[in-house]
Amino acid sequence: MPSLVPLFLTIHILTAIAAFGPVFVFPIIARMAAVEPQHGLFALRLTDTIEKRLTIPLALTIPVSGGLLVWSEGISLSNAHWLLTAIVLYVVAISFAILIQVRTVDRMIELATQLAAGRPAMAAGPGAALATAATLRVAGEPDPAAEMKSLGARAARGGIFLTILVVLIVSLMAGKPAI
Ligand code: HEM
Repeated sequence: MPSLVPLFLTIHILTAIAAFGPVFVFPIIARMAAVEPQHGLFALRLTDTIEKRLTIPLALTIPVSGGLLVWSEGISLSNAHWLLTAIVLYVVAISFAILIQVRTVDRMIELATQLAAGRPAMAAGPGAALATAATLRVAGEPDPAAEMKSLGARAARGGIFLTILVVLIVSLMAGKPAI
């Protein structure tokens, strides 16, 4: 059904922009939170909310518009290796985002909230929490400051990994290389 291609392509591209565009702002939010640690908890919650309410739900609809494009353009999947590669990368990206990245950020929020509840002065957020968490440390329990630091590093690495996957997927979609 070639006449429907422009409609499905518009939906497909718009969804990808709305889902993944905000993700490119996450490093800016993280850097601002590092400079203004009193807003660190808000920054974490903002990132988490964008991921859960916008990026992941919209990303989950992309295979539907993609599938409609495959159908309306009469693409044979066995010949379209660029598309099969992109679909594999998409499955890796969405699984990683849901199973690992969201959980990492959730744990950071949990930790920062606990630290803030433990010390009113730490209601300032994870940055301030990092500075004073050592004072809350109970013998035998994991050091919250160290855990927060390693979670932050893991979230940053995960963000870079996901961004690379999105760039690769879009490059495959746009370039349709004969691989
Ligand atoms: C997971 C299943 C997916 C399927 C089956 C699929 C399918 C397709 C197909 C068949 C086209 C070619 C349309 C055309 O140019 O005539 C296309 C284009 C496109 N796709 Fe996907 N797609 C999928 C996922 C994604 C994802 C995850 C993204 C973004 C990260 C994406 C972004 C794009 C973009 C930007 C185009 C337009 C390329 C252009 O016209 O130059 N797609 N998709």
